[in-house]
Amino acid sequence: MSYLALYRVHRPQRFEEVVGQDKIVKALQNALREDRLSHAYLFAGPRGTGKTSIAKIVAKAVNCESPKEGEPCNQCASCRDINNGTFMDVVEIDAASNRGIDEMRDLREKVRILPAQGKRKVYIIDEVHMLTTEAFNALLKTLEEPPSHVIFILATTEPQRIPATIKSRCQIYYFRRLTLEEIAGRLKKVSEAYGMDWEEDALYLVARRANGGLRDALSIMDQVYAYKGERITKQDVLDVLGVVDDVFLAHLLDAVLSRDMKRVIEMLGQALNEGKEAQQLARETVFYLRDLLLYKHLGDKADFYVVTGDNVHFLEEQKGKVDQDALLKALRIMMNSVERLKFSEGNRFLLEMAFLEMMDILSSSPGKLVEGEDEMTGDKKPASGKSKTPVKEKARDEGEKVLWQKILAGVKEKKIPTHALLSQGKFIGIKDDVIYIGFKKGYRFHKERMEERGNREILEEVLAKIFKKPLEIQFIFLDDDQYNDIMVKKAIEYFGEDVVQIRD
Ligand SMILES: Nc1ncnc2c1ncn2[C@@H]1O[C@H](COP(=O)(O)OP(=O)(O)OP(=O)(O)O)[C@@H](O)[C@H]1O
Ligand SMILES: [Mg+2]
Ligand SMILES: [Zn+2]
Repeated sequence: MSYLALYRVHRPQRFEEVVGQDKIVKALQNALREDRLSHAYLFAGPRGTGKTSIAKIVAKAVNCESPKEGEPCNQCASCRDINNGTFMDVVEIDAASNRGIDEMRDLREKVRILPAQGKRKVYIIDEVHMLTTEAFNALLKTLEEPPSHVIFILATTEPQRIPATIKSRCQIYYFRRLTLEEIAGRLKKVSEAYGMDWEEDALYLVARRANGGLRDALSIMDQVYAYKGERITKQDVLDVLGVVDDVFLAHLLDAVLSRDMKRVIEMLGQALNEGKEAQQLARETVFYLRDLLLYKHLGDKADFYVVTGDNVHFLEEQKGKVDQDALLKALRIMMNSVERLKFSEGNRFLLEMAFLEMMDILSSSPGKLVEGEDEMTGDKKPASGKSKTPVKEKARDEGEKVLWQKILAGVKEKKIPTHALLSQGKFIGIKDDVIYIGFKKGYRFHKERMEERGNREILEEVLAKIFKKPLEIQFIFLDDDQYNDIMVKKAIEYFGEDVVQIRD
């Protein structure tokens, strides 16, 4: 299968062929028709949204021998030469590689010379934000006194980096990201033109991935075609992009929300074994969380990034189980892990830790503390049915503080020395009828005394009374000097230094 470079083949040649950007197209076409173009334009907007394409159409339209309604004919000598890049009066400058003052001074001289071939000279300066300050100043001089036979079209993806003095000389058009529908529609046409047979879902998946840029969309289409041939399913696209599908992500989050750690680790392992990248998995999770967050606010009006039509019901089921604060925190955790995973080798571990951390956050919102604690904290039971007894995270959490105080008070009532030992410990959390209590390394003595039968039994009695059922006790070591890395710390908080068994 060969590479088609669809995005180059499918550069729009006429205004009519441009997808989206309607207002810009209309304004330019009118100006062309009425012969009142400005001398300088600034096209600002994201990658692959049509800036260069439209600049070239403008260049053709002003030089075309028989333009119609502001459209170039694409057949006359001028149009053909411009299309081939051999037209002397249309000059494309890539500011990323010609950043200097010399080029701009040179330009200042050259613009004075009358057009050799056409009616007007058109200078298209791409990536104009890359110019140096001196180069900008030189360009400014040219823009201040533009010869009437010259049109400048500056293009940039970073308009905020263009000096105000330059901007004020230009008519500015802001290109917008193309909508999902626009991109999918274009992809469909291109696929048909090549006799390809794409599943609708596959097209939409590509369109989503392109994030509003048509060039990227066409490049992805190319890649998938080169790899899979003419008949393309959604699964093919997922394979080529190395991403997991939204159903997988939904189930993964389900597992997280129900604190099913075993399942989470299993699912991550499965995806990694299938060859998905840890970083990609973290990134997909970010997208999914983002979709959930949007869905919470906008419902069906949200524009989803990874969740596809039929699978919105997952969001509906999940939205009530997390509050916005926790969701934002979880998003941050995952975004950080995407960053870390860029550089990391031990990526499986990092990914797992990020998920565990997220599990904490997402299930530690008030009301999700401990089963059977209703009367104590006044909170409701966890919303997620499966979740039995969420573990820690927010020891800062008021509910947990209250709980720990209550345990300590109960112990104190029974035996003061036991209380003295236990009060040096830290409540970590409860999971599956096991309570975890941590001691800092310096408190080995306290931990060991608490592990002795007498003290342990006192604590067991108090716990049974509070929770109305027996709890197993695990004392674990905390360490804050040796392990500064928060992730490792987390792991220790979870598993304990002595590898605490967490049963599912
Ligand atoms: N609005 C659009 N309509 C039709 N095709 C488009 C559009 N935008 C981008 N494309 C496709 O993407 C390719 C690249 O577009 P173009 O060079 O115009 O983007 P750009 O905005 O200049 O991007 P960059 O900022 O990366 O230079 C085109 O050849 C075309 O195939
Ligand atoms: Mg461009
Ligand atoms: Zn023409």
